[in-house]
Amino acid sequence: MSVIKNVHLKGKDFLSLKDFMKEEIFYLLQEAAVMKQNKIDHILTGKTLAMIFEKSSTRTRISFEAGMSQLGGHALFLSSQDMQLARGETLADTAKVLSGYVDAIMIRTFEHEKVETLAKYADIPVINGLTDLFHPCQALSDLFTIQEIKGSLKGIKVVYVGDGNNVAHSLLIACAKVGCKMTVAAPEGYEPDQEVVKLAKEYADQAGAMIEVTNDPVSAVRNADVIYSDVFTSMGQEAEASERLNIFSPYQVNETLVSYAKPDYLFLHCLPAHRNEEVTTKIIDGPNSAVFQQAENRLHVQKALLKALLI
Ligand code: CP
Ligand code: NVA
Repeated sequence: MSVIKNVHLKGKDFLSLKDFMKEEIFYLLQEAAVMKQNKIDHILTGKTLAMIFEKSSTRTRISFEAGMSQLGGHALFLSSQDMQLARGETLADTAKVLSGYVDAIMIRTFEHEKVETLAKYADIPVINGLTDLFHPCQALSDLFTIQEIKGSLKGIKVVYVGDGNNVAHSLLIACAKVGCKMTVAAPEGYEPDQEVVKLAKEYADQAGAMIEVTNDPVSAVRNADVIYSDVFTSMGQEAEASERLNIFSPYQVNETLVSYAKPDYLFLHCLPAHRNEEVTTKIIDGPNSAVFQQAENRLHVQKALLKALLI
């Protein structure tokens, strides 16, 4: 594969993969592979990342924090509850104040508009660490894992089974941009956002890929190279948990469902997982699963992202 040069992302926000061209995405994947070989040292000395969390996190928080530290910089964990945000200080004022102290902001929140507002008023890069609409850090890292294991992304068939949520949305955009085929199998009423699907289809047309949405998990997973699952109930939807458990039960990834995929299918899940709800223990802990390699890759990919946005 030829080396991609002359990609300049310094100062950009990372709110959605919509804003990144195919070549920029492949550049970040290339840089992540270098990071994974531990060839990059203290390039972020003196740089600080503020991380605002309005929702829980294990992987995103710790991979960003460890990543900054490994690159010689510093990360600040800021629970929004402990900031003046919780007492009504505006996102605009918060963005302007933080811009005077730190070099980038990562935020995990509910409404996607909040991330956009923060980015609008901040003079520094803003990274989306998950909103109700998108989870771009996860999707970028998922492309890296698929490429690492399957050798290439071109023509790979990714099937996402479950809720048409933030993870599904970012994966749709990511797959469409790089030329993977993607099918989402979701229950009626829980399909991905129509605007996101429309955009993904446009990107897929340009990249020679294909995007499909269906309610039938069995037809979706036929010939799948990758089967992807996420929780049935995302953060913020806890009140719907028992209703969702019923509606989504035909969308469990189990031995019967994966029997329709290619024998060497790869199982991925962004984690945290609820074993024996969206995926059985046999599958997530079985030989086709790469969920812990996938989780580790968040670190390498985000280090590449931090480097690209900050220096
Ligand atoms: N996959 C993911 O973003 O995990 P966390 O919620 O633990 O950050
Ligand atoms: N869809 C899940 C992803 C967690 C990483 C949620 O939003 O809770």
